[in-house]
Amino acid sequence: MLILGIETSCDDTAAAVVRDGRDVLSSVATNQDEFHAKYGGIVPEIASRRHVALLSAVVEDAADRARTALEDLDAIAVTCGPGLIGSLVVGVAAAKAYAYALGKPIYAVNHLHGHVFAPFLDRPEPPPYPFLVLLVSGGHSQLVAVDSPTRLRVLGRTHDDAAGEAFDKTARLLGLPYPGGPALDALARGGDPRAYAFPRHRPGGDSLDLSFSGLKTSVRYFLEFDAGRDAKREDVAASFQAAVVDVLMTRLATAFERASYNAVALSGGVAANSALQEAFGSWARRNGIAAFVPPPKYCTDNAAMIAAAAYHQRDALRADPLTLHADPNLPFEI
Ligand code: KG4
Ligand code: ZN
Repeated sequence: MLILGIETSCDDTAAAVVRDGRDVLSSVATNQDEFHAKYGGIVPEIASRRHVALLSAVVEDAADRARTALEDLDAIAVTCGPGLIGSLVVGVAAAKAYAYALGKPIYAVNHLHGHVFAPFLDRPEPPPYPFLVLLVSGGHSQLVAVDSPTRLRVLGRTHDDAAGEAFDKTARLLGLPYPGGPALDALARGGDPRAYAFPRHRPGGDSLDLSFSGLKTSVRYFLEFDAGRDAKREDVAASFQAAVVDVLMTRLATAFERASYNAVALSGGVAANSALQEAFGSWARRNGIAAFVPPPKYCTDNAAMIAAAAYHQRDALRADPLTLHADPNLPFEI
């Protein structure tokens, strides 16, 4: 089954052709960073205008690279939420037009479910159900229990900054360019992760929730008022990163112990972080757990993961090409 995926929930204009929810025939994403960098973050109005300008060329490019005519596709999959409303509507309107004009079924995909199915891409074996996913992106950080393709439960999440947001804001404090996550990761390689003991959030009771705003604020005060003014930026970056990784891994390990899972997976932009990948990999190896980490191009936003989610969840996602609409606050559970 050949599915064209379309993803425009934030600032990446992306399209992909994926066979049977696994084999990526093409995955094209144009990054808008240069348009947002001077504002230090994403400007929603600029993002939606860039999607309008780029999307049809990106879809054609994805079809060409997959050597597939649009007529030969079996279905269209599109992110319908959550995300920036002005960005979502561009992808949804385009997908409806393709589905209607080509007479193909359309599947409405939750962006976060896309991240959950990213570990299925280009792998000989999919993660066995039930598995646990640590989903860490610019907009979300959550632990998800995946019991079946359509039964996904959030076990814990952030109520303030997402992990990626904390990386971006802290990178800015360190004078690094937007998007800060990858730049901070690179800077931290030359630093000592034990140089400074930044605070690690611990939730009360049985909660598996996460929080990074206290950590970010503590780095800010440290840089402004304390010995931090003379601190090596590399050491601050490495110590901040160690605190984020520590919080994420502690929560993941606790969640894993509380139920029985056949595998664990990492996903979302922050899953590309080298320190997190190392900590995740060695924890899984030490405990003999089957671990899945998508390559960086499928960790960050892409359309292949949207096509994969549509394939695995398809009956539950079938939509009407005339009435489907974007929902910026789409609930997580199907
Ligand atoms: O999943 P994603 O592409 O978009 C959202 O759905 O939010 O995630 C983007 C986030 C950004 O905050 C970016 O700084 C972060 O992922 N990120 C990283 C790294 N690469 C991307 N954070 C830390 N280390 C990285 N290597
Ligand atoms: Zn995302």
